[in-house]
Amino acid sequence: MPNPALSIVEDAPRAARVVADLLENVIRSRPDAVLALPTGRTPLRLYDELAERNRVGRIDFHRVRTFNLDEWVGANRDSAGSYARFMDEHFFSRVNLQPRNCQIPDGSRSDLGAECARYERLIREAGGIDLAILGIGRNGHIGFNEPGTPFDSRTHVVEVTAETRLANRWSFPDGRVPTRAMTVGIGTILDARQIVLLATGGAKANVLRCLLEDPIDPSFPASALRLHPCVHLVADSLAAARLAQPAADSGRSPR
Ligand code: F6R
Repeated sequence: MPNPALSIVEDAPRAARVVADLLENVIRSRPDAVLALPTGRTPLRLYDELAERNRVGRIDFHRVRTFNLDEWVGANRDSAGSYARFMDEHFFSRVNLQPRNCQIPDGSRSDLGAECARYERLIREAGGIDLAILGIGRNGHIGFNEPGTPFDSRTHVVEVTAETRLANRWSFPDGRVPTRAMTVGIGTILDARQIVLLATGGAKANVLRCLLEDPIDPSFPASALRLHPCVHLVADSLAAARLAQPAADSGRSPR
């Protein structure tokens, strides 16, 4: 069973820089790389770092193509709390990505099944994902693949758990978090050629321990990552606090 490479670094800003380095290398070797991107609190520093590297000419996103992992059902670019709006605000508007190269599932479509199929097709037509950057939910979800999602799932509509809705309340000013979302599947994620999972803060300590130590099982979606040959976990010391040998700045066994 492949073991993920693991980098444990001192703090969240450093973790963002490690992930930015990995991404920079991918884009350097493939300027039209296809990325899968997360939203949420965790990647905010990463997007700041990438925007800065783009500003100083260190990373060129001109030919890069991006696919977001998920979107709320009912959301469009203008809705408060939508991931499209999040990405515009925190990343797309700050770098030289071409808008036509940035895809997000359209949660406002009436035929959601057709939209899921269209999204999978777009990823396929782009040649697949070179690098998927993930966060992780406290119940082990990746994208919005909640516990119980089959490992071979493709883009689909999910009922979001109460726990995950609560964790996302901060991004909805009226506190009304949608009950459903669209997400790429675990199978879609596992097809990526390379996967980086970023986890920071003490709230992720338990889930990170489960990710590395619990059995591989759909009841813990992120455990699927241990089936992938090229996964790199990047954690700060708080998120790594419950791992067997936490050591700040260790950079433990990156491949
Ligand atoms: C969001 C996504 C989710 C988040 C996860 C962690 O696009 O893919 O899996 O990564 O819910 O969210 P934060 O970073 O807010 O703790």
